[in-house]
Parts: sequence; structure tokens; C-alpha cells
Amino acid sequence: MSTSPTLSSSLPSLPPLCHDLVSIPFFVLVLVLVLLVFLGCAVNRSSGESFLFCIYLPWLIWEGVGCDESDRVNSLLLPSKGLVGTISPFIVNLTSLSTLNLSQNWLSGPIPDGFFMALNRLVIIDISHNRLTGQLSDSDKLMSTVTIVDLSSNHFYGRIQSSFLQPALNLQRFDVSNNSFSGSIPSSVCRFSHSIVHLDFSNNDFVGPILQGFGQCPNLLRLRAGFNNLSGAIPNDIYTVSALQELYLPANKLSGVIDGSIVNLINLRNLSLYGNELSTCLPINSLE
Ligand SMILES: *[C@@H]1O[C@H](CO)[C@@H](O)[C@H](O)[C@H]1NC(C)=O
Ligand SMILES: *[C@@H]1O[C@H](CO)[C@@H](O)[C@H](O)[C@H]1NC(C)=O
Ligand SMILES: *[C@@H]1O[C@H](CO)[C@@H](O)[C@H](O)[C@H]1NC(C)=O
Ligand SMILES: *[C@@H]1O[C@H](CO)[C@@H](O)[C@H](O)[C@H]1NC(C)=O
Ligand SMILES: *[C@@H]1O[C@H](CO)[C@@H](O)[C@H](O)[C@H]1NC(C)=O
Repeated sequence: MSTSPTLSSSLPSLPPLCHDLVSIPFFVLVLVLVLLVFLGCAVNRSSGESFLFCIYLPWLIWEGVGCDESDRVNSLLLPSKGLVGTISPFIVNLTSLSTLNLSQNWLSGPIPDGFFMALNRLVIIDISHNRLTGQLSDSDKLMSTVTIVDLSSNHFYGRIQSSFLQPALNLQRFDVSNNSFSGSIPSSVCRFSHSIVHLDFSNNDFVGPILQGFGQCPNLLRLRAGFNNLSGAIPNDIYTVSALQELYLPANKLSGVIDGSIVNLINLRNLSLYGNELSTCLPINSLE
């Protein structure tokens, strides 16, 4: 193969397209070319399978694209597809998108401007394990449809404003672990959504005290914020979340005495607090 198939020559042989994609040629172009050139043709050329691979690749791509009854794209499931490049700003035009999974690719650059507000039917977003960077824009917000947000293992930085989380009334899982986020941990997230089950802030540059707030998450099972620069005491409203199974806060600068009311966490199975300056009169037996 001396040249890659062009967009126009590969389109007619594709399964029915969502009209979204036809009207967003740039987006299609990015997906098709990036995948064909980098994943298929380039990588497989050496193995002698390049021709077959290039022919079948477009079918593989459309496998990850779901459409609703009105032919609008409602899901993009492309984890581990070797995608490189940036997330096209035209993704914000896919306003029917409800599930986006681009995890474990080599995507770089920022999340497009106004992404979360534009995609106002988004339920699940997983862009974990890429090389994405930049800040969560001050003017962007999670919409009330969102239940799962996984931004983990990227190079994001900056603060997570409580205004970003405020509209997310149905948020269940929020994972920003393994980035470079800073500022204080947004404990206020529990004021907005009572459905939260899983919060992971580990491996970032969060600083300062953990403010009260997690006590308002009655369904919280896992709270993880290890490997940051958190200081001050563990806020005692955490000990009222009796559903909690895992409390993971190691390698911070937490200090003070661990409150005896930790025994109220009757479902706690994993407690990691090492690497802090905490003192304890922990009734260890009651944790086992
Ligand atoms: C995407 O939407 C914006 C406004 O919402 C519009 O100006 C732009 O033309 C759209 N782009 C495409 C490729 O449809
Ligand atoms: C995204 O896809 C990966 C790979 O299939 C999977 O492990 C992960 O659970 C998916 N993310 C979500 C939020 O479902
Ligand atoms: C954290 O992210 C880096 C790249 O940003 C990655 O190499 C590393 O495997 C990630 N660690 C975990 C525990 O996922
Ligand atoms: C966190 O603490 C370490 C060790 O004290 C320090 O080197 C680092 O600069 C701190 N990071 C932030 C974001 O404050
Ligand atoms: C406790 O930690 C272990 C090992 O890290 C893990 O396999 C298990 O799922 C955790 N349990 C809970 C309830 O989080």
C-alpha cells in the first residue's frame, strides 16, 4: 500500500452512518485517518498483513460507533485502539452522545472547550490512561445526566472547582487519580449528588485540609485520596458514612488523633493511613 485509502473511497462501503458523522467530516477524517494510518497500515506493514488490515479497519472503527433511532451518534466505544492525536473540538457537536470510552489510547492535548456542557446527554465518560493535559475550564460544568467520570492517569492539572461538580446531581463515580490536580479536594461534591459511590483523588497535588462534606454521601463505598499533600485532621463527618468500605489516605501530611467514632464504620474493610502524622488510640480489633 503506497497510499492510504481516502475518506471518500472508504465511505460507500461502510455500514449505515449516523448522519452526525456525515455532517462532521472533520471528525470522521480524524478517526479514519488516525486509525488507518497509525494503527493499521503503519504498524502492520512490517508483518505483511497491511492490505487486509487496511480493508477491514473501517469496519472495526464503525463497530465502536453507536447510533440512536434518529441516526445520531450516541456512543463512541474506542478503548485500547491505539488512537493518537487530540480529541477533535468537533466532538462537542455530537450532542446525543451518552457514552464515551476512549480509555487506554495515546490521546494528547486538552479536553475541548465547553465539552461537558455541550454534551448534555452524556452519562458515562472514560478518557482514562491517555496523555491528555490542560485544566478543567472554569466555565465548564458536568451536566445532571452524568453518572461516571473517569479522567484518571492523564496529565491534567489545576483546581477542580465546586462549580464544575455542582450540576452533577446523579454523579456516582468520579475518578481523577494519577494526574497533577491541585488546590483543595472538592468535598462539596457530596452536597450536590447523594448517589456517589466511588471517589478517587489519589496521586495528585491536592493540598490543605480535607473539608467536611463527605458525610453527606450516604452511599459512598470508596474514598481514595492517598499520595497528595493533604494536611490537618481527618474530618470527623467521614465517620458517619457507615456504608464506607475503603478509606485510602496514605502518604499525605494528615495530623491529629484518629477519632474513636471510626468504629461506626462497620463496613470498613480497607483502611490505609500510613505515611501521615496521625496519632491513634485505634480500637484495632473492631476493624477486623
Ligand atoms: C458544530 O457546532 C457549531 C455550533 O454549535 C457550528 O458552528 C459548527 O459549524 C458545527 N460544526 C460542524 C462540523 O458541524
Ligand atoms: C472503558 O473500556 C475499558 C476497556 O474495555 C473498560 O475496562 C472500562 O471499564 C470502560 N469504562 C467504563 C466507564 O465503562
Ligand atoms: C499514572 O499515569 C502515568 C502516565 O501519566 C502512567 O504511566 C502510569 O502507569 C499511571 N499509573 C497508574 C497506577 O495507573
Ligand atoms: C508536596 O510536598 C512535597 C514534599 O514536602 C513538596 O516537595 C511538594 O512541593 C508539595 N507539593 C505541593 C503541590 O505543594
Ligand atoms: C481492598 O483492597 C484490596 C487490595 O488493594 C482490593 O483487592 C479490594 O478490592 C479492596 N476492597 C474494597 C472493599 O475496597
